[in-house]
Amino acid sequence: MEAIAPRIDAEACQGCGACVALCPSGVLAFAGGRLVARQTGCIGCGHCEAVCPAGAVTLPGDDWAASFSTIAPTGQIVPPGGFSPAMLVDLLRSRRSCRRYTGEAVPGPMLEDLVRAAVTAPSGTNSQAWTFTVLTSRAAVMSLGEAVAEFFRRVNALAARPYVRKGLALIGRRELADYYRDHYPSVAAALAEWDRDRTDRLFHGATAAVVIGSRPGASCPAEDALLAAQNMLLAAHTMGLGTCLIGYAVEALRHDRRVAAAIGLPKGEAVHAVVALGRPDVEFLRPTGRRRPLVRYKTA
Ligand SMILES: Cc1cc2nc3c(=O)[nH]c(=O)nc-3n(C[C@H](O)[C@H](O)[C@H](O)COP(=O)(O)O)c2cc1C
Repeated sequence: MEAIAPRIDAEACQGCGACVALCPSGVLAFAGGRLVARQTGCIGCGHCEAVCPAGAVTLPGDDWAASFSTIAPTGQIVPPGGFSPAMLVDLLRSRRSCRRYTGEAVPGPMLEDLVRAAVTAPSGTNSQAWTFTVLTSRAAVMSLGEAVAEFFRRVNALAARPYVRKGLALIGRRELADYYRDHYPSVAAALAEWDRDRTDRLFHGATAAVVIGSRPGASCPAEDALLAAQNMLLAAHTMGLGTCLIGYAVEALRHDRRVAAAIGLPKGEAVHAVVALGRPDVEFLRPTGRRRPLVRYKTA
């Protein structure tokens, strides 16, 4: 990543020190009564700019997530306590995985806005090293679907051989045996339906998809990508779209270069999530389905 450093307008600075107190990297300080910025170590989080009452500190570059085209955010900050928790919980509980789509295409600008919503997520050391490969048409989704199906044909052919499963288990590698037990039958059935009439048990007929990955070098690439994915799922719901995470596609993209190459992913780019998208052809009438988790409280 290029070195970033906050710019200071010495005339405008009121010397309040809010930016100095907030900078997570200790880049800002007062020297001789003037605010100064070290030229190294800045992670570009923009907290200095966001907190300055005088607009005296700015980060170079645009805030890419500021300009949506299909939605019109006010740009106002919602302070802590300034949004209805009830509405938020209603939204969280209303997002469900969608496995029926109308077939209508998702407009390109909406897909771009979903990426903008995604990148408002936090990322480890603000690395923002996520990547988004946007499949904008049903044909593009089907094409990835075919590459994923080909991968699982090979996996199922291997898993169907008892001596391979047992041999691997003997050397402590139980993945194939576990796969055979947990996934083989449903994958075989899905492949048979795909081959018969293109019934799409993988992407469920979605008309767009986003593969979320990361470039090398991020400190927490998987966490960053999954947080971005959750933002995308929620934003999509508010925009009238259905979504579904597709773990099977992630597996194929991770384990087979041919699948990754089919959507143009360069070597070294990791894949963390695949989000199927489309206009939903299902209406959920009530929220259901969450079990009590294991929660521990420590009071001292
Ligand atoms: C990491 C992950 C992978 C998933 N993979 C698939 C998948 O391959 N196919 C699918 O239909 N649903 C998939 N799902 C959706 C889950 O089945 C779904 O989230 C879960 O049943 C809860 O339902 P809800 O999302 O409607 O609340 C996946 C979800 C997650 C979090």
